[in-house]
Amino acid sequence: PGPTPWEMVRAVPAIRRSAVDFLTGVAARHGDLAAFPLPRTPVLLLNDPEGARHVLVDNHRGYGRATLQYRALSAVTGQGLLTSDGEAWRTSRRAVQPAFHHTGLHRVAAHAAAAAERVRGEWAALPAGAVHDVAPGLFRAALEVVGPTLADEDLSDVGQRLVDAVGTALEAAAAQAAGPVPAAWPTPARRRLRRAVAVIDEACEQVVRARRARGLRPGDDDVLALLLAAGTPPRQVRDELVTFVVAGHETVASCLTWTLHLLARHPAAQRVLHAELDAVLGPPGSSRVPGFDDLPALRHTRAVVEESLRLYPPAWVVTRTALADDVVAGLPVPAGTLVIVCTWALHRHPGAWEAPEEFRPERFPAAARNPAYLPFGAGPRLCVGRDLALLEAVVALAALLREHRLEPAPGPAPRVESLVTLRPAGGMPLRIARRDVG
Ligand code: HEM
Repeated sequence: PGPTPWEMVRAVPAIRRSAVDFLTGVAARHGDLAAFPLPRTPVLLLNDPEGARHVLVDNHRGYGRATLQYRALSAVTGQGLLTSDGEAWRTSRRAVQPAFHHTGLHRVAAHAAAAAERVRGEWAALPAGAVHDVAPGLFRAALEVVGPTLADEDLSDVGQRLVDAVGTALEAAAAQAAGPVPAAWPTPARRRLRRAVAVIDEACEQVVRARRARGLRPGDDDVLALLLAAGTPPRQVRDELVTFVVAGHETVASCLTWTLHLLARHPAAQRVLHAELDAVLGPPGSSRVPGFDDLPALRHTRAVVEESLRLYPPAWVVTRTALADDVVAGLPVPAGTLVIVCTWALHRHPGAWEAPEEFRPERFPAAARNPAYLPFGAGPRLCVGRDLALLEAVVALAALLREHRLEPAPGPAPRVESLVTLRPAGGMPLRIARRDVG
């Protein structure tokens, strides 16, 4: 079962308006295994938790990355960890893994707290009860944290150039992938892509030069040092750097943005959060900064982040191509099928979640074991930055909210734009009040 070709054609404006709502609607109307036609490619929208596990974990070798999503991405990232397969992927994953071990995470917590404190400083300077778009500050903060993990350096300057060019290149790559124009034609999207990739290449070279100039010591565990120490070829180093900027920055920023949105609309959950922060860090005005060691005590803060990742999973779609014929949840899946796991839809599966649309942090930690919860993917390709991202989000949220209270801005909630991650269309304006002033 699934939409007919004619229904697909009629659905184009709806897909443009909101891909996540379209996919959720298809799953609701056609069930957990919805087949639908794209020109030349059979597509399976897989909304069955066990089926998703089969594809991502049990039979992961039977599925590859040659999908529309990853092909568009690789026009920008090349063959980095997100887009590569097989031996190339294994070598890179092994090389960078130590950047995500214990000592690295300690540093991330310190950087996350410092970056969030800077955002909080900006909030503190606003007039009482001002309505403020929180999204740009959170994106900047996430970039400030990814720099030290990537290159043991504050990347704010070159990093912003890199991020802007990556944004332009991804948008151009998506436009190019969507069009039926022959590959050799110099369309405006292709020209934009080429120019942006040149900026990315130059920015990456600058980051690598600066890292080499500072010298590599045994024990350095930033991603770049690990890649250089492993003798990774320059092109591969560039591809991994761009991959980590794409994967490690906008995802966390998106998570924090939607977390603040949810807290502003759920004052009871926000009150519990404030009580926890007061108990762990001291009342508003105390100078203790949250850090790595506070993580076990910040249970509700973490539950808020995890529930926010359920309702607004930044990586809202995970795709694979079947390399050979397979059977998924009883359905024959021919080789070449594009399998789409839409985490947005799966995280709202009516059979897997009680009151799926409701924000209930108290579901966690138990809900993290729900097979229908996949914000970081699953199996060998599980997000390499998962622990880092959770730590960063929890510490940043604690630092951001200890002195402030959030309320919705007047007017409707921002619409969800599903691009590389989930972004609020037109920003995320919220009313920010100091807690002590009331
Ligand atoms: C992979 C989500 C943060 C680096 C993934 C995947 C998901 C994901 C779903 C798997 C994609 C697939 O299987 O097709 C997220 C979310 C994040 C986040 C929701 C934040 C809330 C980060 C951070 C970093 C990172 C902070 C690095 C600093 C990566 C990399 C991969 C990946 C390199 C590819 C791993 C591989 O295939 O070996 N992420 N991620 N992510 N993520 Fe994350």
